[in-house]
Amino acid sequence: MTKSIYTKLVAIIIVLILALMAVVGAFLMRGVRNFYINEFYTQMREAFSGAVMAGDLRDAADEPDAAARMADILRANSGQLGINTGTRNYYILDGLTGAYITGSDPVAGPQLAVTRNILTAIDGSEGYASNSSDDYMDVALPIRGESGSFIIYIIDNKETVSNLNAEIFNIIIEAIGIGLLFAILLGLLLAKTMVTPIQSLTKAAEKVAAGDFSESVENESRDEIGVLSRTFNDMAGQLERNIEDLQHAEQMRKEFVANVSHELRTPVTSIRSYAETLCDAGKTMDPETEQRFLEVIVRESDRMTKIVQDLLTLSRLDAGSIAFDFQTFSFEKSVRDVYNAQLLEAQKRRHNFGLEIEDGMPEIRGDRARVEQVLINMLSNAIKYTPDGGRIRMTAGTKDGCVWCTVRDNGIGIPKGDIDHVFERFYRVDKARSRESGGTGLGLSIAYEIVQRHNGRMEIHSQKGKGTAITVTLPVGGPDE
Ligand SMILES: Nc1ncnc2c1ncn2[C@@H]1O[C@H](COP(=O)(O)OP(=O)(O)OP(=O)(O)O)[C@@H](O)[C@H]1O
Ligand SMILES: [Mg+2]
Repeated sequence: MTKSIYTKLVAIIIVLILALMAVVGAFLMRGVRNFYINEFYTQMREAFSGAVMAGDLRDAADEPDAAARMADILRANSGQLGINTGTRNYYILDGLTGAYITGSDPVAGPQLAVTRNILTAIDGSEGYASNSSDDYMDVALPIRGESGSFIIYIIDNKETVSNLNAEIFNIIIEAIGIGLLFAILLGLLLAKTMVTPIQSLTKAAEKVAAGDFSESVENESRDEIGVLSRTFNDMAGQLERNIEDLQHAEQMRKEFVANVSHELRTPVTSIRSYAETLCDAGKTMDPETEQRFLEVIVRESDRMTKIVQDLLTLSRLDAGSIAFDFQTFSFEKSVRDVYNAQLLEAQKRRHNFGLEIEDGMPEIRGDRARVEQVLINMLSNAIKYTPDGGRIRMTAGTKDGCVWCTVRDNGIGIPKGDIDHVFERFYRVDKARSRESGGTGLGLSIAYEIVQRHNGRMEIHSQKGKGTAITVTLPVGGPDE
């Protein structure tokens, strides 16, 4: 990965440098050439339009040795014309044919080509035309005198500008060389700043893949990689929590299965041992004991039936396969019915049993049978977990669009640490005592599920040794509101 990002970065920087240098070089070289050409023509116009030299040349054309005289004048003005015999020369040509007469370079002179400007001068006009694609630039001026017609011809082979451009080209090549060196270093540096966080991300991702969530990626930068790092941390955190939830659920499931097995084994064991004793004894057992044993067997099988039924209810609630029968019904009447149904049991235990209901309670929407199941469990718990002769109050009323029912007792209470757990399946504060009274620890967990489905809530306040108050609250409009 390091290598590929590095190569890409270096390649990009190299291409950028090359493109930039090519553009700069082209503009520079063209600028230098144009400047040089403009300079040449400006210089020529200034020189030849000046009164002194132009007048001298015209006078010289009247002399018998006109060509030599004119050449002398040009030589005298070499400085002003930039004549250097190397790249720029002057010539005197025949005004009718353009043929060489004399000039600063007698070797090149006879081979001069007849250029556009020379033709213009032969026609009698001043030839100042230029074409930047030519490898020369020239000026041809016609001069007529008594000794005939001549052409003053200045030609520059552009070598100076070519040399200059060659120099510029060399400089640019050198600059590209240095630029490439920079590209490699800069690429390394950039790749490092980009690759380091990516590498730590990769390392963290590998750890997450292996189930280790301890490492979070440190990156505070606000660029894309910083955002990616933070997103990654969020994702890892989310995953970790999900896995913890899954592990917790799995743990709960195992405990549940263990609990179910244990709860079912207890009655089966006692049924079996009582039945065995009955079998072994045969006719020798006295009828009273036999009756007592049979009652135990019936009670234990009832207990098994209750456990199995409760489990079935719970699993259907979990699976959502229980169809709730939502109807409008009188909550007040349900409270009264449940109270009356438990009255006998409460009297048997000599409890001070009372019911108080606020006036004008509204009808509510809910599953009546299920709501009553909740109330029954609340009340039967109070009866069960309050020593004989206790005080139990069932109260109900309306508040904030909800109906509520509280069952308050002065029984054994629930220790602080257990209150949070009583809604868990099979959870009983005192297992032995609870089982003795027929409890399986499923009642409140079923009640909790039912109340949830009604969008209601349950609250327990309890103090060990003092008593318990448990309240159910249900929205009047049912679960949809
Ligand atoms: N009013 C109460 N006073 C004291 N402890 C209570 C009271 N209500 C519930 N508990 C405690 O909470 C536990 C769970 O109650 P829950 O109704 O779920 O089970 P249970 O009554 O033991 O069995 P089940 O309701 O299935 O017959 C009880 O075993 C008991 O320890
Ligand atoms: Mg109960």
